[in-house]
Amino acid sequence: MTVKIAPSILSADIMNLERDVRAADKAGADVFHIDMMDGNFVPNMSFSPSVVEGMRRVTDKPLDIHMMMENPDAYIKPVIDAGADTVLIHAESTQHIYRSIDLVKSYGARAGVVVNPGTPLETVKELFPIIDQILVMTVNPGFGGQKFIPGMTKKIQRLDQLRQTAADDNFEIEVDGGINADTISQCARAGADIFVAGSYLFNGEAGLEKRIDDIRSLAVEAKQ
Ligand code: DX5
Ligand code: ZN
Repeated sequence: MTVKIAPSILSADIMNLERDVRAADKAGADVFHIDMMDGNFVPNMSFSPSVVEGMRRVTDKPLDIHMMMENPDAYIKPVIDAGADTVLIHAESTQHIYRSIDLVKSYGARAGVVVNPGTPLETVKELFPIIDQILVMTVNPGFGGQKFIPGMTKKIQRLDQLRQTAADDNFEIEVDGGINADTISQCARAGADIFVAGSYLFNGEAGLEKRIDDIRSLAVEAKQ
C-alpha cells in the first residue's frame, strides 16, 4: 500500500486555519486529519462538524474525522453531511462498536476503528473484515505534541501480521501521535500506511513542503 501523509489540523494556527489548510494542501498532504474532542472522552475539546464543513470548502483532499467523544453515534451523520470521507471511532467510546461502524457505512462513508495505547488488538479483531482503516494511537489521545510510545511499534507489527494472514482483511493501518522524522521509519517498517502528523508539520521551522517530503521519503524508504 502507498504511504499517505495526514496533517492533523489540531496543531495548525487556529486563527489562520484556512491559510494553513491551503498551504498543507499545496505542500502535498494526502488527507486531512480532523480531531473531534468532547471534553469527556478525552480531557480536551476541539473541532465540530461546522469545521468539517469549512474544510470541505477549501480543499478537495479526503477528510478523516478522528472522533474522541462519548456517544459518537450522534455525530456520525452530521460529520458525513458536512463532508467527511472517513469516520474513525474509538473502540473504547461505545458499547457497540460494530453498530457504530455499520452506521458510518450506511451513510456511504469509509469507516475506521481507533484503539488507545492500552487497548488490545483482540478487542477489535472481529471488525477487520468490515473496516477500511484502523488507527493505532501511538500516544494517549487528547493533545498534540506528545511523545511517541515506543511499545506501539510492536503492536503495529502484530496488526500487520494479522492483516496478512486473513484474505478478506485489507484495511489501511494508520498511526497518530508523536510522528516525526525520528519515529516514522519504525512505524512504516512495522506496517503502517497512513501517518498523522500535527506538531512536526505545523510547528517546525522548515517549510511544510519540505517536512511532508522528508517524512514521506523516510516512510517510503522504510517500506522497501
Ligand atoms: C491527539 C490527536 C492527534 C494530534 C497529533 O490526541 O489525535 O491527531 O494532533 O499530534 P502530534 O503529531 O503533535 O503528536
Ligand atoms: Zn487524531
